[in-house]
Amino acid sequence: DAYKAHPLDLGDIIPIDFSSSPAIPDSHTWFQPNDDHFSSDDPASSIPVIDLLDPKAKELISLACENWGAFQLTNHGIPLGVIQGAEEEAERLFSLPTEQKLKALRTPDGAAGYGRARISPFFPKGMWHEGFTIIGSASHDVKKIWPDDHARFCDIMEDYEKQMKVLAERVTEMLFDLLNISEEKRKWVGANDTGTALQLNFYPSCPEPNRTMGLAPHTDTSVITVVQSQSTGLQIFKEGKGWIPVHPHPEALIVHLGDLAHIMSNGSFCSPLHRVTLNEACKRYSIAYFYSPPMDHVLSPLVTGDVDSAAQFRPVTVKEYIEIKAQHFGNSLSLIRI
Ligand code: SIN
Ligand code: FE2
Repeated sequence: DAYKAHPLDLGDIIPIDFSSSPAIPDSHTWFQPNDDHFSSDDPASSIPVIDLLDPKAKELISLACENWGAFQLTNHGIPLGVIQGAEEEAERLFSLPTEQKLKALRTPDGAAGYGRARISPFFPKGMWHEGFTIIGSASHDVKKIWPDDHARFCDIMEDYEKQMKVLAERVTEMLFDLLNISEEKRKWVGANDTGTALQLNFYPSCPEPNRTMGLAPHTDTSVITVVQSQSTGLQIFKEGKGWIPVHPHPEALIVHLGDLAHIMSNGSFCSPLHRVTLNEACKRYSIAYFYSPPMDHVLSPLVTGDVDSAAQFRPVTVKEYIEIKAQHFGNSLSLIRI
């Protein structure tokens, strides 16, 4: 029995102690050696790289949203130092001993803090992943981890989140222009009370990447998610093609749409299924920024005058949709379909 449970392992809530796991425990074995779960890697057919300053950026984003629901964005305006600084802080946090990270363990009904992947309850096997979620200020949780040294982490993440918000607003306005969304329906963009969160992810290197899972297939609930990672591992599911790896462009951020964008666009923009695979030699860090309207915002799909575009979804508030997703996960879109 090579896997020894961590003494503090509550099984349900916290990640396993990866450093003490030389072999993959059955609880984390997803595939048998002969399972064919990796698609072939054709670099010509991955998500597009779009220059935000390109005069055609809007049209390119429109195409990417229809075909993939995802793209990489260069000239996004976020200084490299801000991106690297946030990754370094994520690395500093995840490198701490498990006991220290557990001081900020997410409570079973809470959303912020340290813990296993949020989607874990929907899957029978564990993921090779640790996460730290920041909603609003990180200081409450980070003070528990670093009582005397939390300021640097909090300042860097706060700045990162501010810069992400500006970018997310800019991209969301572009999407809304493309969809002809009225001033009335988009006035939450730029407001202070939007639903935003930062998710720091750590995927340790894994001795058997072909039998394990970094993050299981899911769609995001957001309007858009902006992801930074310098490492491969993220894959997007493309109908008819299978899992397509994203090869991070060194200067780009990855943008993908979530379910709320799919609903608002009346189904014309994809909310892509995505997952994260592992690597035997390299660990991976990523930071995802989720951008959504406030909880009481009513999502009503855009319907233009023409006959073909009758609403595909019934109107729901963001809060209602999040509750449906928390219950039904992958079936939630079909539950609000008319
Ligand atoms: C995700 O947030 O679903 C994936 C983020 C990552 O690329 O690690
Ligand atoms: Fe995601």
